[in-house]
Amino acid sequence: MLKPEIEDGQMSLADPAFRADVFAGLERRPRAIPARWFYDRKGSELFEAITDLPEYYPTRTETAILKTMCPDLVEHVGKGRAVVEFGSGSSTKTPVLLRCVEPSAYVPIDISGDFLRESARGLQQAFPDLPIHPLEGDFMRPLALPAVVADAPKLGFFPGSTIGNMTPAMATDLLRAMRGSLGEGAMLLIGMDRTKSSDVLVPAYDDAAGVTAAFNRNLLDRINRELDGTIPVDAFRHRAIWNDDRSRIEMHLAAERDVDFTIEGRPFAMASGETIHTENSHKYGPRDAKILLRAGGWTPIAQWSDPDELFAVYLAEAQSARLAP
Ligand code: TRP
Repeated sequence: MLKPEIEDGQMSLADPAFRADVFAGLERRPRAIPARWFYDRKGSELFEAITDLPEYYPTRTETAILKTMCPDLVEHVGKGRAVVEFGSGSSTKTPVLLRCVEPSAYVPIDISGDFLRESARGLQQAFPDLPIHPLEGDFMRPLALPAVVADAPKLGFFPGSTIGNMTPAMATDLLRAMRGSLGEGAMLLIGMDRTKSSDVLVPAYDDAAGVTAAFNRNLLDRINRELDGTIPVDAFRHRAIWNDDRSRIEMHLAAERDVDFTIEGRPFAMASGETIHTENSHKYGPRDAKILLRAGGWTPIAQWSDPDELFAVYLAEAQSARLAP
């Protein structure tokens, strides 16, 4: 998920996909830039800081759930499955799961090879006897897993409510791709943030210390840095909005005055109040989550939550597509 940084002063090395997404995103209406571009080095650091914020409950809540559910989980999945994590496994949740299910092998999948190898090295030190087989690739499509785990029963792991950062249509495609990657007989452990009062949701994405605001606005700094932009970053305000109709938090960058700027010489103008949409975080009630899983080819078999029911972790098993009644 995290992209390697492009060093200052190497603007000629700007990622062509970043350039294409920024131009296309600023030209369309409403303006929107894909969230994957948040994660340069600075953005990744800011995101780490977000996960420690008092208002940002998901990380600590999911970690606590994973710890307390362990005996229950082992009853369902047993020990010794191969754990396949969708994402690099850099979080503190991964060791909690590995200690619980004692996998026969661990396969982290990430699009950023550097990041993947770095976090695999760290995990190998903590689990010296665990065979780790990092797989570089885009898990939005079915992937061929390393041959050494081909015959092992599998447990997919997708924490962090990252599924919520996709639209339901994309989330369904992803669940089907995961099913294709993991194969028949696989199980999936997936974290999803729950619907709750916007009085709790909005501050989680608009904290008092302004870390999430800095994270969002870093995207504009990155455009200025890597694509030779002249965006007046101070003229943009971070906004977190609860969209009840779509059951999601939206993050936007709102122009607080009329602004003109150029990116690689190309001119743009935004009127006061206009926004750039940068992220969505969909929230699912228990029934919503189960319908989403079924739509993606997975049968829910267990769920765990925290005492305040802020967050939920679901266990599902691969279902023969469309065969079940
Ligand atoms: N998936 C998490 C969430 O939606 C993490 C996340 C993605 C996030 N983008 C974010 C958190 C932007 C804060 C701000 O909560």
